[in-house]
Amino acid sequence: MQSTEAYVRALPKAELHLHIEGTLEPELAFGLARKHRVALPYASAEELRAAYDFADLQSFLDLYYALAQVLRDADDFYRLALGYLERVHGQGVVHAEVFFDPQTHTGRGIAFGTVVDGLRRAFTEAQSRFGMTHRLIACFLRHLSAADAMGVLDEVLEHREAICAVGLDSSEVGHPPSKFAGVFARAREHGLITVAHAGEEGPPGYIYEALDILGVRRIDHGVRSEEDPALVARLVRERIALTVCPLSNVKLRVFDSIEHHNLKRLLEAGVCVTVNSDDPAYFGGYLLENYLAVQRALGLTRPQLASLARNSIEASWLEPAAKRRWTASIDACERG
Ligand code: HPA
Ligand code: ZN
Repeated sequence: MQSTEAYVRALPKAELHLHIEGTLEPELAFGLARKHRVALPYASAEELRAAYDFADLQSFLDLYYALAQVLRDADDFYRLALGYLERVHGQGVVHAEVFFDPQTHTGRGIAFGTVVDGLRRAFTEAQSRFGMTHRLIACFLRHLSAADAMGVLDEVLEHREAICAVGLDSSEVGHPPSKFAGVFARAREHGLITVAHAGEEGPPGYIYEALDILGVRRIDHGVRSEEDPALVARLVRERIALTVCPLSNVKLRVFDSIEHHNLKRLLEAGVCVTVNSDDPAYFGGYLLENYLAVQRALGLTRPQLASLARNSIEASWLEPAAKRRWTASIDACERG
């Protein structure tokens, strides 16, 4: 029989929760620091990697924003994204819906267009070399003001052809989705899809706000929904997907171990759960490693692994014909 790893690798999968800045591997960070003659407060890539021990979301974000300073020109963003795409192509990722954080770059003088140009070049190359498809999601940093986010939205609208959706990330607690009601309403008026991180560290109430005030139909993380059975029932009834990131949740101490993760319970309750990697360079694994970690720790069956892959295609923004094609090939993998 095929190994579990070979089985998961062969399943066509969509990645729906991936911060491109979170794919910055220490070696590339050091290479770019040398290129731009900026100093990093670590002696080597090994020393930097050894510092990836986080107490919570904020302690991770502090390092993540600091390291993003090495990304300066379009070629840097191209190398960053192409490195990610080459790696996950070999893991069976056929489609990626990718976040970027404009304010992390515009706040230090890098033009929005520079970021988008570099990223698009990589995604276009991956489409022609590997047949991989993508969507780009511009995220607002929720620890900054709604007025700042409105300025980001102006730039998103100037690059409307490249960007399909807006999202909400960064420090969750104390920055509820309702803070961005006006920005998301305007984004929706312009036909942008909306998503939001909610229920990672924040309470179930933030998930309700994301659904009812921001109009999202897919929740990033959402694992704290389990604390509210009525909310779980609604997610099931309305087929609202959760983009769950198992290794991230353990690294940022949302769960104290992978064995205690609630992914399997949510899946068995009928929620459209998907597996994703969040910030793989920091959390110890890309998409394949996330699937394998939950499979081993929670004892997921092969049909459950196929369901997770099917959910990722269903919850993506691919056109219906592409969804039908990928779903048929997942069904074929499952039949063996
Ligand atoms: N949560 C919030 N903001 C983020 C994350 C996350 O997991 N990763 C990168 N930015
Ligand atoms: Zn995230």
